[in-house]
Order: sequence, then C-alpha cells, then structure tokens
Amino acid sequence: MGLPVLALWELGGTEGCSGNETGLSFPVNCLDRHVHVAPDKVALIWEKDEPGEEVQVTYRELLELTCRLGNTLKRQGVKRGDRVTIYMPPCPLAVASMLACARIGAVHAVVFAGFSAESLADRIQDAQSETVITVNQGLRGGKVIELKKTVDQAVKQCPGVKRILVSMRTDSKVPMTALDVLLEEEMMKEDACCEPAAMDSEDMLFLLYTSGSTGKPKGLVHSQAGYLLFAALTHKYVFNYQDRDIFGCVADIGWITGHTYVVYGPLCNGGTTVLFESTPIHPNPGRYWETVERLKINQFYGAPTAIRLLLRYGDEWVKKYDRSSLKVLGSVGEPINKEAWEWYFHVVGETRCPVVDTWWQTETGGICISPRPSNPGAKILPGMAMRPFFGISPSLLDDKGNVLLENNISGALCISQAWPGMARTIYNDHKRFLETYLTPYPGFFFTGDGVYRTSEGYYQLTGRLDDIINISGHRLGTAEVEDIVNHHVAVAESAVIGYPHEIKGEGAYVFVVLKKDSGYTQETLTAELQELISKKIAKYAAPEYVQVTHRLPKTRSGKIMRRVLRKIVEDKATELGDLTTLDDHEAVQQIIEGHKLLVEGWKSC
Ligand code: PRX
Repeated sequence: MGLPVLALWELGGTEGCSGNETGLSFPVNCLDRHVHVAPDKVALIWEKDEPGEEVQVTYRELLELTCRLGNTLKRQGVKRGDRVTIYMPPCPLAVASMLACARIGAVHAVVFAGFSAESLADRIQDAQSETVITVNQGLRGGKVIELKKTVDQAVKQCPGVKRILVSMRTDSKVPMTALDVLLEEEMMKEDACCEPAAMDSEDMLFLLYTSGSTGKPKGLVHSQAGYLLFAALTHKYVFNYQDRDIFGCVADIGWITGHTYVVYGPLCNGGTTVLFESTPIHPNPGRYWETVERLKINQFYGAPTAIRLLLRYGDEWVKKYDRSSLKVLGSVGEPINKEAWEWYFHVVGETRCPVVDTWWQTETGGICISPRPSNPGAKILPGMAMRPFFGISPSLLDDKGNVLLENNISGALCISQAWPGMARTIYNDHKRFLETYLTPYPGFFFTGDGVYRTSEGYYQLTGRLDDIINISGHRLGTAEVEDIVNHHVAVAESAVIGYPHEIKGEGAYVFVVLKKDSGYTQETLTAELQELISKKIAKYAAPEYVQVTHRLPKTRSGKIMRRVLRKIVEDKATELGDLTTLDDHEAVQQIIEGHKLLVEGWKSC
C-alpha cells in the first residue's frame, strides 16, 4: 500500500473530540456515541481481496479517520449541502468518506466502482458534484482495476469537477492530474477533531442512483433521521443483531444494501461490520465460508445469484469450514428460488439458522418485508419474504386501482402509509418522483413489483411489473440499454427484454432490426453491442444474446408488444396470449425460429 492508511490511525488524537450528545446528529449516532462507551470495539473488519489479510478498525480509529477526512474536505472547499461523489471499493476510507460527508453536512453520492466512465460522468453531472473521492487502483478477484483512470476519463466530461481526492489502495503510482489531491497525505496534516454539523432531520444525507423503467438513472434522496432510524431498527430486528455479533454483509458499498447494512445500520447499532472487497469465488468457491470461519461471522447477508453459483460447486466447499458462529442467513436483491433457499438453509446453515429473504429497494431505504427471527417461533417458508416490518403496511392493488383485501391473490405491491426510511425525492426532479411512485395509484407508494399474498397472508414477491430487469441483483432499465443500442450505426430499431438466467436470475436479450445494407451480421453486431454496453453502462449490463430480426412484433398502432417477446425468450412461445392486436403474425413466427437457432447455437458452443 502506498501511504500507509494505518499510520493515520496511529497518530492518535480523538480524545476530547466528541459531537454533541443530544443524539440527534447522524455521525454522532454512528461514531461518537460508541467511542464514549467502547472506543476499542472493532467497528470495521476490512476483508481484503486476499484471504487472511483482514484489517480491523476500532470506533476510535474510525472517528479519527472520519474527522481528518472531514477536515480535509472542508479545507478543499467542500461546504454543507455540496454533493461529493465517492467512487471506491469497500474499504475503511470509503466508509470514512461517507461518514465525513455526513459530519460536515455534505451529501454523498456513492457510485458503484464497477460502473463505466460514462455512467460515472452522468452521475457526477446530475449530482453537480465538484468533488470526487476515489482510489488509485482497486483489487478484486486477484485483478487490478484501474479506478483512477476511469475517474479521469469521466471527469473529462465534467467541467464542474474541481478536485479528485485519491487514496492509495496499492503501491502503483498513477498519472496525476491538476485536480488530484493525495488523500492520506492531506489527512495526516489535519486535526483529528471535526465538530459534527447540526443538521435538520429532513436534510439530505445521500443520493444514490438507480435505474428506472424510463430515462436515465435517478438520484434517490435519503434524509438524515428517518433513514438512520430505519437502518438501525431493521438491522437489529431482522437479523436479531446482538451486541457482540460480527455482521457480514457481502454487498458492495455502491448499492443501497451496502449503505444500509454494511455501513449505517451496523454502525448506528455500535456493531462490528465486515467490508468485503473480494468475490465469492476468489481464490476458490469456499471464500465466503472460509471468511465466516476466520472472522466468526454471526449474520451472513448475501445475494441469491452468489448462492446459485456456489451451490453448483458442491457442498464440500462449504463443509470444509466451521460455520458454527452463524446464527442468521440473509438474502437480498432478487427472488431466491427454492433450490437455492434449501441449499442455503440445509447446507450452509445446517438447518440451524433461519433464512431471512428480505424484500426492499433503493427507494425504501431499508428492509420492508422479511421474516423476523427476533420473533421466536415465527414461521418461515422457503423463498418468501413473509411479513411486513414494523410500520410497513403493504397493499395489493389491481390494474384498475382497487385495493385487494383478500388472501390468495396477486397484485401490484404498494405501501399505504409513509415510513421513516422512504426516499424523499429524486434529486432535482421531484416531478419524476411523484410520477413514478405516487401517481400510478393515488394515495399509495407504488413499488414497481408484483406480489402474491398467500392463503395464510404471507407475501411472496413475483417480479417487476415494469421494464426493469434484475441481473445478479443489479437493477437495469431496459430503456437505458435500448438507448445505447439504438445509437449504433447499424441499428434501425431494438427491444431489450429480460430472460431467465440460471445463475444471474435474469440476463439481457436484445432484439434488433438492422438498417438496410448495414453490412452487419448477428455475430459482428453481438460483439460490438456487448462491448459498447459494457463501456457505456457496466460489464454486468452486457447482453448475452443479440437476435437480428426483420421486424419486431407490434400492435396495429405501432407499439412494440414486449409481452410477446418476453414469452419467446422465456421459451413459452405456445403461451403468447391474445394476439388480436398484432399487426404481423409471420414476424412472430420468424422471431420464434430465430430465437431457437440462437439459443441452440449458443448451447452447442
Ligand atoms: O424487484 C425487487 C428486487 O430488487 C428491486 C430493488 O432493487 P434495488 O433498488 O437495486 O435494491 C436491491 C437491494 C435492496 C425490487 O424492486 N428485490 C429486492 N429484494 C428482493 C427482490 N425481489 C424479490 N425478493 C427479494 N427479497
């Protein structure tokens, strides 16, 4: 590592630096409060990419890091209310950056460090950030990721950026620009005390971008008090978190799961939280369980996509390690299929640990529907989110807007009264916030998900009702992908559909109509579109399949019939439903044939 981060912690000096004790201030609740009671309690365990190199950071050290970073931000000109973009992998300085923004009243906007330079630039511009915090390089799965280079590319398109604070994650020097500030060097010069700004409970705490069914990703705004209360409560009750537990949420801090259950929930509860930098299969498929054994993790929280991947490698990779520390297993981000749930429960948890399938969204701030093992004896059924959390009142609505009161019924999942953790608006676009969430079913918050209420009154999520797909738990608007595809020189028209994927849950499938004499074939276009989408959005968004077709199925009024395409990619071409409005039946037959050829060709590769 370049400038030793540890050296910063050894400087000492947080004595006497404590925020006001009224309990209202956000950073005080996550740090100072605990420093007074147990300064040497471990707050963070940074589980670095290589196993066995973990670093522990106590509450006192985290407070000091946060204060020095807060003072650095202030010295660089960051003021209350300013947006600061954080493009970092999970590491103590990323957490300290988030907390430092909160401490000085700035608003953080963490961007997942797997997003491309273009996606990062879009988010910096939308947030009007003048400050970016990053690392020279990331390390993930044994590979070096050139994060600073990506930031430099992004910033070329963002004239508003005035400074880039660079932390040295590796020893490698990267080319510096006039905007760069070496973070650790500056922090060393700063005071280890930074008074927390007094904020209003409804002031903005952070923005987090997420995909919608139309247009560009939206910056959802979370507030101070309500968000933190909800993060802490859900963390405590859903996971039955107890004082000395080690909480292991393996999500990246770039997603809402990382915000709420890696950082804010556990820290507000004075817990010990793991920052997982690696992948489930590095250096081998036993990584999660080896980490559980070594760190003695009590609650493990991960995504079904990883569980599906690991179960394919067999039980041996799990059984090799001692998992007796585990008490609760959590699942998040997408539906967990029965096979994955059973494996998680029986093999990983040895039928001892309740599995909490937690349903929630970036918009909800924290878990809304989930079993609660803190409620002994409560029933848990495989693959079901089961019951609403305290204060959450789910309602099912039909497509005419009627509330469905009975059980054994499916409907659109809405929430009928406000809850503390709900997003307050979309940054700079309150109209879009109202249109997306509050006007589709007046009087209700519309989640975009479908749900089934069982005969016993339990809730089972059935998938998105809009054009958002969920790839390995990452949300992606099909419109975002179509926008890129439609800009390709050879493309006349396209439709992007989610198809069921054995490991990722869903994958992107692109139907394309070529321009006349474009000169492209299905193969050449596939390679180009995969590269283009990786470059413009992120690698996870790249489509597996690109099918060139002469026409897309449309209604007589010219609307693409997506539900027909969806059935085709789900291999349910015999269940196309009502086709009376379809303008060209032959086109559909051709698409079905083309799909078969493409998928069979792929399988035989
Ligand atoms: O469709 C639901 C799905 O993920 C969406 C929210 O995505 P995002 O905002 O990225 O947040 C992911 C982490 C909370 C939801 O609208 N989803 C999330 N959890 C579940 C789920 N679908 C089924 N079961 C879940 N447990």
